[in-house]
Amino acid sequence: MTTHVVHVPVLLQEVLENLPIPPAGRVLDLTLGLGGHAQALLSGAGPNMRYLGVDRDPHARALAKKRLGKDARLTIMAGTYEDVWEDPGFQAWCHLQAPDGFDVVLMDLGISTLHLKDKTRGFSFMEAGPLDMRMDTENGLTALEWIQEQTEETLADAIYKFGEERASRPIARAILKALAEDRLHTTQDLAKAVYTVIPREPAKRKGLSDPATRTFQGIRIVVNGELEGLSKAIEQAVAALKPGGRIGVISFHSLEDRIVKQTLRRLAGIHDGPGRVAPQPIPKHLRLIYGGGIAPTEDEVRANPPSRSARLRIGERLRDELSRVP
Ligand SMILES: C[S@@+](CC[C@H](N)C(=O)[O-])C[C@H]1O[C@@H](n2cnc3c(N)ncnc32)[C@H](O)[C@@H]1O
Repeated sequence: MTTHVVHVPVLLQEVLENLPIPPAGRVLDLTLGLGGHAQALLSGAGPNMRYLGVDRDPHARALAKKRLGKDARLTIMAGTYEDVWEDPGFQAWCHLQAPDGFDVVLMDLGISTLHLKDKTRGFSFMEAGPLDMRMDTENGLTALEWIQEQTEETLADAIYKFGEERASRPIARAILKALAEDRLHTTQDLAKAVYTVIPREPAKRKGLSDPATRTFQGIRIVVNGELEGLSKAIEQAVAALKPGGRIGVISFHSLEDRIVKQTLRRLAGIHDGPGRVAPQPIPKHLRLIYGGGIAPTEDEVRANPPSRSARLRIGERLRDELSRVP
């Protein structure tokens, strides 16, 4: 396990400015990661606030714990933002520490620097690593195990749908050929299979992203079920807010952002079709702050290039009857 990874929290200033924590505020961080946002939010808050950090990745939780040190205000819990709501430990914490709900819920989606920098996790093709790609290393199929279960069609579908890769069919064929010929063991083997379809050098010369990036994204999203429970999780997070409390969701690619945007707009009572008028009124639970979301400044992108595709969307809970979770 890599122990010295620094993840630069994205849109940090924007998070601090738009997700204010009252003196005895309650904060739910559903993607604690390496605790970058948590550290900043905790350091600006008073002794009576409480911060619950959830992450599915045991290595991230261990590193966050080390980074944040002993802090009586902080609790770190294992879980996913889809399922944590049913966890008795989570429910007990909410019951005791946040009986009126949360002032702030933060979701900073996707993978962290830990996943990309630790080659043993199998997310990166810069160095050869095992074909794993699981955020939760204790559960689920590894990328290789998942690929072994695919047909050319299902693999191509995933690479097309979640990687937005137009050459998905020949790439799927090349990957399954490498598998059949016992040449698919590492992340670099997977990347090499992609390069047989889209050569690497021309893309590099043109300054385009590595041709393997989209295929890795597609497989990673499926292996981790990244988009499946996102909309429901946002709904539950909004239901867990106090009136006036705010949710902030940071996405990193268009597929994620579309789900975040559509879900928040629906919760804000906005009709997005089909047709100009909603067939029935849509209950309004949120007020959107910055309809278009917030993108990083040029300075941030310069200092931290991975932030370039990030978008922060924020909603403020209205006083209504949306049932409390849990
Ligand atoms: C972009 S990082 C968060 C970084 C964090 N805000 C920081 O500043 O250090 C996203 C984190 O969310 C976690 N994660 C991704 N999907 C998750 C899910 N469904 N449930 C819980 N955690 C998840 C990942 O393991 C990763 O640690």
